Amino acid sequence: MFIYNAWYIAAEPAELNDGRIVGRVLLGKRIALYRGDSGQLVAFEDACPHRKAPLSLGTVVGDGVRCAYHGAEFGADGRCIKVPGQKAVPPKAVVNTYPVIERHGYIWVWLGDNQAGADESSIPDGFWVSGEPSWIGGYGHMESIKADYRIINDNLFDITHAEFVHPESFGGQEVQFYRNARPGSEFVDRGMSFEIGANSIRFRVHAAALGDEGGPLWRSMLAQSHGEEEWDEPIDFRMEVIWWPPCYTSFHISVRPMGKPEAEPVEIYNLHAAVPETTRSSHYFYRSVRNYGDASMNAAFIDAASFVFNQDKPILEGQQEVLGERDLLQTDPISFSGDRLPLEGRRILERLLAAERVER
Ligand code: FES
Ligand SMILES: [Fe+2]
Repeated sequence: MFIYNAWYIAAEPAELNDGRIVGRVLLGKRIALYRGDSGQLVAFEDACPHRKAPLSLGTVVGDGVRCAYHGAEFGADGRCIKVPGQKAVPPKAVVNTYPVIERHGYIWVWLGDNQAGADESSIPDGFWVSGEPSWIGGYGHMESIKADYRIINDNLFDITHAEFVHPESFGGQEVQFYRNARPGSEFVDRGMSFEIGANSIRFRVHAAALGDEGGPLWRSMLAQSHGEEEWDEPIDFRMEVIWWPPCYTSFHISVRPMGKPEAEPVEIYNLHAAVPETTRSSHYFYRSVRNYGDASMNAAFIDAASFVFNQDKPILEGQQEVLGERDLLQTDPISFSGDRLPLEGRRILERLLAAERVER
């Protein structure tokens, strides 16, 4: 069920500060990640070839690692270079390494066999904004949501749940406007348009005059950016959502005072990554950046994002408990009109999975 030939966010760069080695399970594999003394990033299989102690318990030495158990040292290429107390190093003493790269404010790893494909071009380009210092924001990371990453993808795609699950932030009755999505690339007043590409799905929603029927968060963006307590007037609201397989979603929200198309928009990008941990659990990385305010607002934004995700979490984990080992689509579920895009996303994943099966 995993797509291996893809870049996966494995860590926030700050997690690797001060010689720390992060041990993390991704796609069912145990990975150790660290930054060597020269700054080189390294991703190892998190198991010493001697007695399988996790290398993430070890110590960074130069650009390599010393195992915590019997002190064997491994270079950044995974080869054993030293065994304490003996001259010869066993030739088979090599740890698997994985391609690793830092981009857009994240550490990404490639766990697939097809390392020829591990170039940067397949990192979702819409994540550029998270590495861009002129956008102000913060990040959060939740370990181990007990749900298949596809259930989290479905949730991020699906704005129809916001009215019921997130009424004090994203959710308003406005989502009812967007139930009849149409193909296209325009912002349609009180409508949704969508584009299904080979490797992305994009949808746009718009309301030229959104009042109390909109999610409270949208008007609070205008209030905050103008230094006011509340924004009582209707607003011009636009949102563009892009999803890239296997597990990346960007929400770009842009609001203006109603009827002022010339006004500079107040904007937020919310970026989400639901990285598979096991077949039934995921790491969730998220980031919220904006074009207004200062860093003193960051913590409040991340707290708000955590609050929202904690509203989703019991539902997602509850779905997984009900499903057990089954995939959602094996249960022949009923679908509503709002499920169209999540289903298209699952089709793209199926196509990529089938392509990997042929390669193997
Ligand atoms: S387990 Fe690593 S040196 Fe023994
Ligand atoms: Fe949600």
